[in-house]
Amino acid sequence: MTAIAVLGAQWGDEGKGKVAHLFSQGADFCVRFNGGTNAGHRVIFTKVKVSTAERRGGAVTEEGEFKFHLVPSGALHEHCIGVLGNGMVIDPRALVTEIEALRSIKDEEPQLFISPRAHLLLPYHPIIEELAGAASEIGTTSKGIGPAYGDKIQRRGITMADLLFEGAFREKLRRNLEREKRLWGGHPSLVKLNADALADEILGLFEAAALPLGKRIIDTVKLLNFALDEGKRVIFEGAQGCLLDIDFGTYPYVTSSSATIGGIGIGAGVSPRRIEKVIGVTKAYTTRVGSGPFPTEVKDSMGEQLRQAGREFGTTTGRPRRCGWLDLVALKYASQVNGFTELAVMKLDVLSEFPEIPVAMSYRYQGECLEDFPMLPILERCEPVYEKLPGWQEDISHCREFSELPINAQRYIRFIEEQLEVPVALISVGPASADNIFP
Ligand code: IMP
Repeated sequence: MTAIAVLGAQWGDEGKGKVAHLFSQGADFCVRFNGGTNAGHRVIFTKVKVSTAERRGGAVTEEGEFKFHLVPSGALHEHCIGVLGNGMVIDPRALVTEIEALRSIKDEEPQLFISPRAHLLLPYHPIIEELAGAASEIGTTSKGIGPAYGDKIQRRGITMADLLFEGAFREKLRRNLEREKRLWGGHPSLVKLNADALADEILGLFEAAALPLGKRIIDTVKLLNFALDEGKRVIFEGAQGCLLDIDFGTYPYVTSSSATIGGIGIGAGVSPRRIEKVIGVTKAYTTRVGSGPFPTEVKDSMGEQLRQAGREFGTTTGRPRRCGWLDLVALKYASQVNGFTELAVMKLDVLSEFPEIPVAMSYRYQGECLEDFPMLPILERCEPVYEKLPGWQEDISHCREFSELPINAQRYIRFIEEQLEVPVALISVGPASADNIFP
């Protein structure tokens, strides 16, 4: 199996980082194809330190935690090359910080390549997002994602390729910043930005970190397609999830990029036909950050119980996540859009304390039963119709075989498989990289 996609099946935060990290073990490449620093993948890893102790025969391991926002999770593994695809918007400050952090974790110089077609997310983008009110209306991550993609679509974005031509880069930055200052009536937070100083800072960042851009910014379309021709193992790590996808999500409460299977074609230049395994990552329940409809949201103390049990606070923004039950209407839709060949069900252990577990089977809308996931404004008016499955009420975090799970936990998983007609290939029962069952 050479090309594997790891995609969010819900509203993001499903645990894709952990799954991508797991599947990248032994992989040659791990690729991000959409989004930017709005993504936050928390990975808990075990590093085997190459040390004198190991040479004497005793391997030393070290547990650590790393929050990725731009760098693909697989890039943590030795010999796995990280690729930032053209579909991303890249904040250069964050990129340099993450590469330096990666260097401190890995024993080797991190191998990371960036598409020249990827767009830059610059310091004025978050300011514009704030001024436009998107943070409060949509509940965005305030990272400037919408305005950066906006520049791309309006055909005035600045690309990674532009960084290689200093004069042109400075000119484009000057032109774009001046335009924004004019458009926003000389708002003080924009006026204080100086294009030349910004350009100096950005170019200086890469120099100071000894990151020769000419070697990092390469033709990633050719790189990846050639790698697949050669039978290399390539993991495509989605950011956000199907229901946040600009086309297939709960528009307008979505992000600005393609988080579904088609995003790999758009954002990495690899045909989706080449992807052999499409892993849909879902929590055993549902969460969402930001505004927008969420039919199975639980607003009472049970929702708070889910939040505490699942430690549901955003990796990127620290915001408490909205919590609710598993929604099979939405999950079936995500499976249809992406063509999942298997599922990874994350955080099953979080449900251990509940005596019964509701699962949404359909929606009620104006007295009718809906089995298909509708668009807004219908979705906002839907009530979930639940089937209640019995809980198991015992700790499952030590289970490593499917047969070790309590029978009701096994039934819960089988129920999801039957409803989606997609096999569950991975069940996560805890945060550490080893807390998994491969049924
Ligand atoms: P933006 O991507 O910052 O523009 O935010 C748009 C919507 O997507 C908001 O509801 C965010 O909370 C949500 N969002 C963006 N990235 C993530 C993510 O990685 N996990 C969960 N939600 C996200």
